[in-house]
Parts: sequence; C-alpha cells; structure tokens
Amino acid sequence: MMLDSPDAKAGPGAERAPRDAELLNAQLLGLLERRRSVTPLRLAEPGPSADEIARLLTIAMRVPDHGALEPWRIILVQGSTREELGGRLANAFLEANAPREPAAADLAVRKIKAVFAAAPLVVIVVSCADAAARIPEWEQVLSAGAVCMNLMTAASALGYGATWLSGWASYDPAALRLLSVRPGEKVAGIIPIGTIVERPQERARPSLEKRVTTWGAA
Ligand SMILES: Cc1cc2nc3c(=O)[nH]c(=O)nc-3n(C[C@H](O)[C@H](O)[C@H](O)COP(=O)(O)O)c2cc1C
Repeated sequence: MMLDSPDAKAGPGAERAPRDAELLNAQLLGLLERRRSVTPLRLAEPGPSADEIARLLTIAMRVPDHGALEPWRIILVQGSTREELGGRLANAFLEANAPREPAAADLAVRKIKAVFAAAPLVVIVVSCADAAARIPEWEQVLSAGAVCMNLMTAASALGYGATWLSGWASYDPAALRLLSVRPGEKVAGIIPIGTIVERPQERARPSLEKRVTTWGAA
C-alpha cells in the first residue's frame, strides 16, 4: 500500500506528478525503517538552528489530539542554561541519594550532567493531561507520546540524532520543580538533540510473529 504524500490530494503540490509522490514516500519510509535513537554521549554541536527548532517543534505538535485539547507543552533547554540545569539537577540528586550509595550516586550524577552537556538542545515534552476533561486522560497521555515520537522522527529527517529519555529527573519532585514542571503535569520525554558524532549499530527489532495476531484466526 502506498501512502499519500502530504500534498498528494490538495494544496500547491496537487499537480505534482505521481512519480514525485512515490519518491517522497520512498524517502519517508526509508527514514522510518532506518531511524535509530542516538544517545546524548554520541551527540555534539552544532545543534539545530532557530529556524530548524521552530520547524521541529511545529512538526512535533502536529499530532492526533482527540478534542483538540493540546494536552502537552514543551520546555527547551539550550545554550549556557544546559550546564546550569544539569548542575542543579545533579546537586538535587546528590542531596537525595549520595548518603545512601555514594558510588552509584556518582555514576548517576555523571549521567545526568552528560545529557545536558553533550547535546546542544534538550527538549522536554510535558504531558498536561486533564483528568476532568471530556476526553479520557489516557488518550491525552498518548497524544503527548506522539509529540515525542514526531519530534524524534523530525530530528532524524533533519539529519540530527536524538533519543527519548526519562530517568530520575522525570519523576523526582525536586527535579520536576527545577524543570518547571507544574503539579499535575508529567514529563513525557526528555529528548536531547544534536549532531551525530558516532552512529549506533542496529539493535534487534520486534518480530511480527510474536507481536501481531489476526483477530478470528485460529
Ligand atoms: C518513555 C520512554 C522513556 C525512555 N527512557 C529511557 C532512559 O531514561 N534511558 C535510556 O537509556 N533509554 C530510555 N528509553 C529507550 C530509548 O529511548 C530507546 O528506546 C532505545 O535507546 C532504543 O531506541 P531506538 O529503537 O529508537 O533506536 C526510553 C524510551 C521511552 C519510550
């Protein structure tokens, strides 16, 4: 089955020759088939330009959103604020954890700092699902997940590496305050983005046989 290109049916591209549409689809499918997460330790400057960031975020928010509630928001961490936030998160982690397990805390602190030091841009996608809204909260949360995935795909399409992270900073109350995540909100993803310095190898992928069933089949 061939996907329609975004402008195959309407708009300025409607008169495009079918072969162009096929080429676009082939590129899109190729990207989706090859995309891999790239850990922040394999990322470096330069990050996306201001125009590219605007484009990435516009694509990120172009997601299915039942009821058009926009149940998500985005926090950008870039420039010198990365180091400041990484340092403050690391201190908060140490305050809570160092007394119990100093060695493990040291490793965790280095990881927290590395995320913000290595990647030129860190995008925090926040889920602002409203349990009292007429749309089920679960669907609002799924929409925030879609924002994360669209951002990952768009970053990859622009030639950047990215990875979808969570970890301690996504859940700890002191970390959430530092990130300016409000009560009732949740971190859907912490997504560092930057230039790829080392490409990761492919990893094992799910098997259709294990994960897919056909309803009604024996
Ligand atoms: C919600 C969510 C949170 C994640 N948090 C982390 C994390 O904190 N640390 C980590 O190493 N991988 C985390 N992952 C996994 C990576 O994002 C990614 O799945 C893995 O590196 C393989 O990616 P790929 O299949 O896109 O190449 C998380 C994934 C999801 C969906």
